Amino acid sequence: MAERNRMPPWHERLRLRNGREVQIRPIRPEDAEPLRAGFGLLRPEEIRQRFLQPLRELPPELARRLTHPNPRNEFALVAAEPLPPGEALIGAVARVSVAQDTREGEFAILVSHFVAGMGLGRHLMRRLVRWSRGRRVERLHGDVLLDNTAMLALAESLGFRRQRSDSPGLARIALELR
Ligand SMILES: CC(C)(COP(=O)(O)OP(=O)(O)OC[C@H]1O[C@@H](n2cnc3c(N)ncnc32)[C@H](O)[C@@H]1OP(=O)(O)O)[C@@H](O)C(=O)NCCC(=O)NCCS
Repeated sequence: MAERNRMPPWHERLRLRNGREVQIRPIRPEDAEPLRAGFGLLRPEEIRQRFLQPLRELPPELARRLTHPNPRNEFALVAAEPLPPGEALIGAVARVSVAQDTREGEFAILVSHFVAGMGLGRHLMRRLVRWSRGRRVERLHGDVLLDNTAMLALAESLGFRRQRSDSPGLARIALELR
């Protein structure tokens, strides 16, 4: 159950099905190091599903970019331990980026296996949709590996439709927001 009273915008406390409490909040620059540290605990498969390529580590420049979303066209939420940013381990990151001069948003999400299967992916995707609607984004899309049954099922249940993709092995899924 989310607690949102007296919280800054986009901040929530969630109790997961296993009793663990997480804080949902916008990503912060201080999250870069915990993100890099936690990256080593991820499974190669979840990294491949998120980044569409194998990565042995999260390069500092990519960590910097992910933790400094441009407020004009990007938005990113984390599910973190309820500790100050910089100390808190990050369990999940969900982001959307709106292409310049368009109303087209692209999302990406990673819920680590430590906290997967407990409703976080659905919750974070709904928040991305809410933010996108607020920004008058007309269409939200993502590229998902064809063997990523979990993401394809989650997206379908949220109303995303599969589209033709020119990239082999990938499905583009899109949600019309108009
Ligand atoms: C896909 C992902 C975001 C799902 O997150 P999650 O927190 O585990 O998902 P939830 O617990 O909210 O489950 C939401 C729905 O996803 C689907 N789902 C989740 N795990 C699943 C699994 N192992 N097998 C099949 N469907 C699954 C189900 O439809 C589920 O709905 P239900 O609970 O009503 O059955 C997560 O597994 C993940 O980050 N994977 C690696 C990175 C990735 O694939 N990113 C997407 C491309 S950008």
